[in-house]
Amino acid sequence: MRELSRLILIGPPGAGKGTQAQRLAAELDGLHLSTGDLFRANVRNETPLGLKAKGYMDRGELVPDDVVLAMVEDKLAATFPPGRTARFVLDGFPRTVVQAEALDQMLMRRGELLEQVFLLDVPRAELMRRLAGRLTCSACGKVAPASDPVRTHCPACGGLFAVRPDDRPETVTRRLEVYEAQTAPVVDYYRKDGRLAVIDGMGDVADVAQRLAAGVGAAASGGPA
Ligand code: AP5
Repeated sequence: MRELSRLILIGPPGAGKGTQAQRLAAELDGLHLSTGDLFRANVRNETPLGLKAKGYMDRGELVPDDVVLAMVEDKLAATFPPGRTARFVLDGFPRTVVQAEALDQMLMRRGELLEQVFLLDVPRAELMRRLAGRLTCSACGKVAPASDPVRTHCPACGGLFAVRPDDRPETVTRRLEVYEAQTAPVVDYYRKDGRLAVIDGMGDVADVAQRLAAGVGAAASGGPA
């Protein structure tokens, strides 16, 4: 069985990409690369990139492709310098067909391929429910564990948990519209060339993780996921 090294988790806002990508990347001993997390860290640190991205994020719109692509290429080049095989799980990228094509070219220049894309399938009502209940640390961006009944302070850094600015209901609605218009075509892009597997994203985090692990195993052995 071959070992998978370069995967994508794709899905609408609240589907559980961040939750699962973090676990999967740790299992594969690879990089968890979330473009949303990178942007939020830049916003917190008030970098020029963060200032550029903030308005788009607060409105629930996508940051322009050229800005996203430069950031991802820099991150991959810094983490995997020439001679080092890239191992990663991407979360929140690519989000447009332009980004998906650019990623394929970026990897081709490195002599590598994207191996598999997993779509986390979750109905809209559940997405709204999850996003309405999400709290994130205003200092480090960590998502409050659902199992923590108090959820006031982040166990990782002590920062205060708060509602993410783009998790307000009107912005969530816009993010879902943007997903349908701009990211659903990316799902078709990967479906057409046989790199897409659909994973049922409903149920406990552990159940979804198990389905994902089975999908990775199936893809690694060349069978249907
Ligand atoms: P980004 O951060 O990528 O947001 P998103 O795609 O909308 O995804 P979310 O972080 O909201 O959800 P998720 O699927 O990761 O779910 P999570 O695991 O947290 O992007 C934010 C913004 O940045 C964009 O709108 C855009 O402006 C910009 N941006 C980022 N990338 C870009 C790009 N490539 N191009 C252009 N612009 C870009 O889970 C959600 C909640 O549900 C959590 O509370 C979690 O605990 C809970 N949960 C998870 N799994 C389960 C489960 N199985 N059961 C119950 N609850 C669960």
